[in-house]
This record gives sequence, structure tokens and C-alpha cells, in this order.
Amino acid sequence: MTTLLLHLSDVDEARWAAAYQAALPEVKVIRQTEAFDPKGIDYIFVWKPKPDAFEGLSNLKAVLSLGAGVDALLKHPALPERPIVRFVDSDLTRRMSDYVVAQVTMHQRLGTRFKRDQIARHWTQHYPPAAAETHVGIMGLGVLGTDAAEKLLGLGFTVLGWSRTPKEIAGVQTYAGAELDAFLGETDILCCLLPLTPDTTGILNYGLFKTLRRKLDGGPVIVNAARGGHQIEVDIVRALGDGTLGAASLDVFEKEPLSPDSPLWALDNAYLTPHIAAISNIDAGVKYFSAIIRGHERGEAPPNVVDRGRGY
Ligand code: NDP
Ligand code: OXD
Repeated sequence: MTTLLLHLSDVDEARWAAAYQAALPEVKVIRQTEAFDPKGIDYIFVWKPKPDAFEGLSNLKAVLSLGAGVDALLKHPALPERPIVRFVDSDLTRRMSDYVVAQVTMHQRLGTRFKRDQIARHWTQHYPPAAAETHVGIMGLGVLGTDAAEKLLGLGFTVLGWSRTPKEIAGVQTYAGAELDAFLGETDILCCLLPLTPDTTGILNYGLFKTLRRKLDGGPVIVNAARGGHQIEVDIVRALGDGTLGAASLDVFEKEPLSPDSPLWALDNAYLTPHIAAISNIDAGVKYFSAIIRGHERGEAPPNVVDRGRGY
């Protein structure tokens, strides 16, 4: 009998297990706390695996990642040399685009300025720029970045995008690799949807903020919904304080949960959420990975296999 081991942290493993068992009656679904023979495990479904997660899984066929981002998984010292399949799904993508669109439109409509006016009881009719006058730059034109770009285009924004290799997306001004500075110099609201790799670690830093276009009232804005490792938080605090940045929307942090001591909490131009921009939905995830397990058992190659050399 095919076996699927669940090894999840910080999510409701029991609910995932019940949903998998209902969707895959021909598969034995096992939770990490149950007794099992590690040699008998065919697939492991993981999120934030503990150090012993892969111990003894000598006959594993594939590692299935609950998350779209696999940076933490790739850093696991005992990760087996098996295909890693990441979560790619329209529900997750839509949730992420909802977050990006909400943040971008709030900043385009000068949310920080009007909130400050409200607190000061000031009535000042200052008109926000039109969407088309607002340049939104998306770092990372993969599954999530492309969808966000297309949704923002549909709202009339001027959209730019930057990726590692050149991309063509209708209506989006695209840049790749070494064209980063040209991309930043045309960007008012910068959205990070990159995977965390050695090349993208710490990319959101003070030096980069200085190169953004300065046409949006109050200063350029960053939106990071990817990973906290992309950002240097002391630089963000400094930039939000000295006007280098007008505002920042951050869903992810260098260390999660964000420490109660972080100065970010107190900044009125920082918009913080606790890594909830896009969560993997149980129904969608079980449907996706059940199809992958069944396909793999029939001899089909799984989709969305992580390229370990690239790091995403
Ligand atoms: P994809 O792998 O589909 O896309 C990654 C994009 O980033 C690609 O366009 C890739 O370029 C580009 N890229 C990678 N490295 C570089 C680089 N060095 N320079 C420039 N561009 C680079 O990823 P997804 O869109 O599915 O997801 C992106 C990230 O979002 C995930 O890795 C995850 O960390 C994060 N995430 C966060 C969530 C949250 O709730 N906060 C939820 C889900 C995901 P190329 O096209 O040339 O390969
Ligand atoms: C993911 C996440 O990578 O939720 O999917 O962060």
C-alpha cells in the first residue's frame, strides 16, 4: 500500500490528514506522531520540517511541500535527494494577488498621508495620482508575480517586472538580471515576489531604496510578501524614518514571529501582517497533491519540481 507521511508545523496537521485520507482511500496517511516504519514511507508532505523529519526514509519517492516557497526546506541538512514538488495553485495565487492589489491601491491612494491628516483633523484636498501615473515594479515574474502584474494591469497601473531570465508579458515593461537599476529607477511601488536564494537575500536594503523613482507623494513604497530574508529591517526602519521610503507593507520578517521589541510595530507608515498574504488552502492542497501522488504511482513525472541548482 502506498504511504504518505505528514510532517507539518504551525498548521493544523490533523485536518490535513483527515482531508488526505478522504481524498486518497487507497493510500495510508500517517501523522508524524504515530508509530510507523520509516522504510515504508513513499511520500512526505512537509511544512517547516524538524531536524529528524527525514530520518530513515530510505525508500522515499518524493518530498511534497505545503508551501510555494522552499527556501527553508532546501536548507534542511538531511533533505533527501528526491524530487521536491512545491505547491502551485490558483487559489494560492489569487490570495496573493488580493494582498498585493490591496496594498498597492492603498499606497497609490496615499493611505498614509490621509491617515495622518485624519489623526490631525486636517481637511486637505490633495488628489492621489491616477493608477496609470503610478509605476508598480514587481520583483519576480513567476507564478505569483505574473498574476499580480496582470491584475494590476487590469486596474490601469503602469506595471514593470524584473526576473532572473528575460520574460515577455503583454503590457508589462520587463527587465532581467543586470537591468535591476533601470527597473528600480522607474518604480514607485516595489513589490517583492521573489524566492529566497543566496542571490536575493538582503536585496531590500537602504542602497536599493535610494535608487527607486521619487514621484509618488511621500516617497516610494515597498511591499514584501515573499520572505523576510529578502529585507534588512534596520534599513527599512531608517528609510521609513528619513523619507527614503514613504511606506512599507510587510507580510514577512527576518525572524518570525516578529519580536514585540521591533521598532517596525510603532511606525505609522509600516503596514504589518503576520505572514498571511496567501495561505495554502487544505481543499486545494489535498486536491493538487493527491493528483500528483496518483500520477506518480502511474509513472507520470510530477509538475512544479524544484530546481535545486537555482534554489527555487
Ligand atoms: P516562482 O518560482 O514561480 O517565481 C520566481 C520568480 O523570481 C521567477 O520569475 C524568477 O525568475 C525570479 N527570480 C528568482 N531569482 C531571481 C534573481 N536572482 N533575480 C531576479 N529574479 C529572480 O515563485 P512563485 O511566484 O510561486 O513564489 C515566489 C515566492 O513567494 C515563493 O518563493 C515564496 O517564498 C513566496 N510566497 C509567500 C507567501 C506568503 O504568504 N507570504 C505565500 C506563497 C509564496 P525566472 O522567471 O527567470 O526564473
Ligand atoms: C508559502 C508561504 O511559501 O505560505 O507558500 O509562505
